[in-house]
Amino acid sequence: MMTGNPAPRRLSIFGSTGSIGRNTLDVVDHLGGRENFEISVLTGNGNVELLARQARSFGARMAVTANDRHYQSLKNELSGSGITVAAGKSGLMEAADREADWVMAAIVGTAGLAPTLAAARRGADIALANKECLVSAGDLFIKSIHEGGGRLLPVDSEHNAIFQVLEENQRHAIERVILTASGGPFRTASLEEMAGVTVETARAHPNWSMGLKISIDSASMFNKALEMIEARHLFGLKPEQIEVIFHPQSIIHSMVGYSDGSVLAQLGTPDMRTAIGYALSFPPRPNLPVERLDFARLARLDFEAPDERRFPALRLARLAMTRGGVQGAVLNGAKEVALEAFIERRLSFLAMADITERVMDDLAHLPPASAMDDVFVADRLARQRAAELMKLDAAG
Ligand SMILES: NC(=O)c1ccc[n+]([C@@H]2O[C@H](COP(=O)([O-])OP(=O)(O)OC[C@H]3O[C@@H](n4cnc5c(N)ncnc54)[C@H](OP(=O)(O)O)[C@@H]3O)[C@@H](O)[C@H]2O)c1
Repeated sequence: MMTGNPAPRRLSIFGSTGSIGRNTLDVVDHLGGRENFEISVLTGNGNVELLARQARSFGARMAVTANDRHYQSLKNELSGSGITVAAGKSGLMEAADREADWVMAAIVGTAGLAPTLAAARRGADIALANKECLVSAGDLFIKSIHEGGGRLLPVDSEHNAIFQVLEENQRHAIERVILTASGGPFRTASLEEMAGVTVETARAHPNWSMGLKISIDSASMFNKALEMIEARHLFGLKPEQIEVIFHPQSIIHSMVGYSDGSVLAQLGTPDMRTAIGYALSFPPRPNLPVERLDFARLARLDFEAPDERRFPALRLARLAMTRGGVQGAVLNGAKEVALEAFIERRLSFLAMADITERVMDDLAHLPPASAMDDVFVADRLARQRAAELMKLDAAG
């Protein structure tokens, strides 16, 4: 009989220098690091120094910066290490082509689409943090997962929560999923107050510490809108089965309602390492040093229905899901341009949804995507149209 330790699992982390990527390496470290895992590829973009440090410390086989201009500095940082270095879009595709059992998809934005789809097609298990894969290219992405034969493991805390409490053998009995949302900094603000929101007030998320864009997306509920579309694709739901409820303490991360009236919820302190660890160890649960819930100290959990007049992004998500096709890509592309304009103080907070909805209406005729290029075209057209509309509004 053969004995000995099983071969270490091969992991790749796309976006290892970001918040999710750093937390993933922290979890890997807690679960035995190089003893239990072999790091195939780490990718980053601008933070070359951190990428090189991570690659050396975890003994990665390959390190990729998505930015061609950083190739030489990454090469210099890693000289003598024996670690293969690559850069640019082709470097990311090389990364996707490397052998890996499990890939963390944590590149922010549409840049994550092509490498993640390619890794899915190769058959790796995909731990999905990047939202665009499902929001913009949901049907194609799910098809790639099926073709490759790997598993899709949601990392976004809400979807990870649903994944944890969704009873696969009871699919027929699932009535609804309930995504929780903290409500952000403007949960109790009036419509008038929200008209005057600034970048500084919008970025202050009460419970989670995140980057600028995702914090503003959380304040406007666009982040929740993207999560609704994600949930539809991940769990094969109808738009009317997806509900959103404000829950300011962010302790319940989401819930699934069944036909017998039962609702199963996943609770925990807001720490992404729980979701990442679950996706890494699944099905067994790992041992992680996250803060434990103290119910006596918590005392209460509150809930309230979101007001879609103040948070129109939620209505736009439902519209995109009902229309289907590339409307998710259009919503996301238009929202990105509106968000940039808000950050640069060229657009008001509430106008982000207004611009997005007008672009979605203008591009409602686009056909469904049969290849990734169709998604990129929809994204480009949406961005162009959003810019045009803002120019027209500013002129008129
Ligand atoms: N943070 C959270 O709590 C959280 C929760 C749920 C879901 N998510 C989702 O997970 C994804 C990652 O979030 P994050 O918070 O980790 O973002 P982040 O901190 O901004 O990190 C993004 C990562 O992507 C890299 N990157 C940036 N631009 C790129 C480009 N053009 N091409 C290739 N790589 C690029 C960054 O590299 P450099 O840093 O080297 O520039 C970094 O490694 C997002 O889609 C987000 O919506 C995040």
